[in-house]
Amino acid sequence: KDLLEEVKGLTAETAEEAEQLRIKYLSKKGIIPSLFNEFKSVPNDQKKAVGQAINELKNTAQESINNLKEQFEQSNLTSGASDLTLPGSQMPIGSRHPLSIVRKQIVDIFDRIGFTVAEGPEIEDDWHVFEALNFPPEHPARDMQDTFFINQDPDILLRTHTSSVQIRTMENQQPPIRAIFPGRVFRNEAISARAHCIFHQVEGLYIDEDVSFADLRQTLLYFAKEMFGKETRIRLRPSYFPFTEPSAEMDISCTLCGGEGCNICKYTGWVEILGCGMVDPAVLSNCNIDPEKYTGFAFGMGIERIAMLKYQINDIRLFFENDVRFLEQFKAES
Ligand code: PHE
Repeated sequence: KDLLEEVKGLTAETAEEAEQLRIKYLSKKGIIPSLFNEFKSVPNDQKKAVGQAINELKNTAQESINNLKEQFEQSNLTSGASDLTLPGSQMPIGSRHPLSIVRKQIVDIFDRIGFTVAEGPEIEDDWHVFEALNFPPEHPARDMQDTFFINQDPDILLRTHTSSVQIRTMENQQPPIRAIFPGRVFRNEAISARAHCIFHQVEGLYIDEDVSFADLRQTLLYFAKEMFGKETRIRLRPSYFPFTEPSAEMDISCTLCGGEGCNICKYTGWVEILGCGMVDPAVLSNCNIDPEKYTGFAFGMGIERIAMLKYQINDIRLFFENDVRFLEQFKAES
């Protein structure tokens, strides 16, 4: 009877103590099993009563010790210890950046007509960014205003266009050359909805015997249709770059209104997407390629510009803020 009262009133401060109690009362050599051993010596007429008492004692002890243990398990949960039965936390799946998506589309389109891909350094020298490309010494593009120089050294700079990779490629390889050069470029410009000091270009270069302006036009028409849809038309307007002659800027029929007139094309029906032209013979000579034997074309486009048209994005800064609410919208595309 005393034992019964004792086990009813068991307390423990820790799970460890509760376990000690279980060992004391219920384990093989504990108090209660040893009572069962003594049961043999109980006189027959008392066996029934004593048996019931011991059983009750055992059940009661089991119950109170289990209760104690449960209580510690519960307080473990509420005090923040691991609950191993909880499902794991979700690892959100990311998406490709829209500029990576568009760059890949451009690379794939030119890959299908035999253009390889190459890259060049972002930190360049004056020769590859300007001089070999026929920029006269006083050309405004060399100005401090546009170009980021490194340590004030006029010969170490961040490239302002990917045309520098044309030079590096032609210096290292004789024609035929048919390649595109994607990469990051830098200009010291005020940041606005339309301009950024860092952006991306894809340069194209094709040098071989008898490459003509018609080849340039047809290549760019193919690109425009693949990129913006089969109904897309192109228009070449005369322009000027020091490293191409003749030079042109290419417009495509507006991706939104198809030429009817809307906000995107400023009611002209056309939007400019790239600069291009026939590689100037002086540039070929600068790279030790014989301009009497070879001709070629080059073009350069801004990836941001293409992406903005394709996805109707009205602010270039969105590409660099990495706001997931913006990035998430391209999940299906990646
Ligand atoms: N490099 C020129 C620019 O950044 C684009 C261009 C590339 C023009 C190749 C003609 C040929 O504006």
